[in-house]
Amino acid sequence: MADLDKVKGINARQIKLLQDNGISTAEALAMSPGMIVANIDGLGDKTAKKLIWNARNALGMTEFIPAEKIDENVEYITTGSSELNKILGGGFQTGKLTEVYGPFKSGKTALASTIAVTCQLPINKGGLNASVAYIDTENTFSKEKIKRIAKRFGLNPKEILSHIYHARIYSSDHQSQMIQKAETLCKTRGTRLIIVDSLMALLRSEYVGIGKLAVRQGVLNSMIHGLSRIAETYNCAVLLTNQVATKMMGMFSGNDAIGGNIVAHGCHFRVMFKTKGFSSNSSLKRRAVIVDAPDLPPDECEFFITSAGVADTEKVEIPDDKGLDFEVETLYEESESDKAPNIALTCVKGIGKGTAESLETEGITTVDDLLNADPERLSSKISGISSKKVSEWQSDARVLLET
Ligand SMILES: Nc1ncnc2c1ncn2[C@@H]1O[C@H](COP(=O)(O)OP(=O)(O)OP(=O)(O)O)[C@@H](O)[C@H]1O
Ligand SMILES: [Mg+2]
Repeated sequence: MADLDKVKGINARQIKLLQDNGISTAEALAMSPGMIVANIDGLGDKTAKKLIWNARNALGMTEFIPAEKIDENVEYITTGSSELNKILGGGFQTGKLTEVYGPFKSGKTALASTIAVTCQLPINKGGLNASVAYIDTENTFSKEKIKRIAKRFGLNPKEILSHIYHARIYSSDHQSQMIQKAETLCKTRGTRLIIVDSLMALLRSEYVGIGKLAVRQGVLNSMIHGLSRIAETYNCAVLLTNQVATKMMGMFSGNDAIGGNIVAHGCHFRVMFKTKGFSSNSSLKRRAVIVDAPDLPPDECEFFITSAGVADTEKVEIPDDKGLDFEVETLYEESESDKAPNIALTCVKGIGKGTAESLETEGITTVDDLLNADPERLSSKISGISSKKVSEWQSDARVLLET
């Protein structure tokens, strides 16, 4: 990943403007459509074009390359069901957008919760060993559910929750904003999975009527494009859940995902979840159908929703709750030698006594605490401290620990 200052002819003001609009690397700039960059207040058409071209030049994107050199580094996240993994070609793929649509109760949130955990598994167990951004537009995220899924996979629930960066979303422009912000997580926290559950709920309720359709599709287009670019830049997996509407086709009716062609064409994989044929009230059996995929045959399978996420069977083993938290906690308790040495905060460059005191009021008393802190959150809590500053402290703290 190249920083924006590697782009020829760029100045500090332009870097700031781009960063404020979610474009924080040369790759991001090179992959952005000219119109979006030109629309950033203070840039303008000519500058946008020049910067994008220079970014592409810097990254060698203005040359054709022999196809054998294309970097196709696809990785997979297990869905919790081996059948579902199989029809997906191995699991949830990185670098791509996957849309999962279906009627209510069909298991979309269950899948989102499951992969928010399995993404954190080690690579040899079907994960990416990476954190997750969870954009929750329906307020259906459940910590308890995540804890059960974590236990099912033998992971520490507390650790797992601490690596799911959750944002509760209240409006479509908030959703756009947090999609942009998710890029920062990919850049600074190694996030490799972005979940939007669900993509259309807020857009559907805010843009009502045919008159607003064009504007809605414009907003949607920029969300999809932004996500697609992030997926490619950071080799990140993206799950978009979507609702369905009943579509009449002459005498027949069927469920179709909402959002129209922009979603349909913007997503690489489209998977439909069905409850039909099973009593959705009494059975937790569901069907998944591959509707569209670049290199997968049409296929379908059955899976189950369980109290601990998506699975192949109706019941999954969750280690006994009683005492488990305790056992897991001890299991994960660092041995003395693993622990970061207890270095005073004032040893970090730029942290004086006064700042150390402010940090302590936020529960940050050691260098280790500082390293585990979220720069954005911390900067919002302590006045006069930017998140950039916190990141600088963290870099210096890392150097301190290594020396
Ligand atoms: N703890 C649990 N144990 C077993 N089944 C559960 C549990 N919690 C939820 N379910 C079942 O999971 C289904 C809900 O699935 P989910 O929330 O994933 O659906 P969804 O597709 O996201 O629906 P919506 O469109 O309403 O968001 C329901 O049928 C519910 O009965
Ligand atoms: Mg849901």
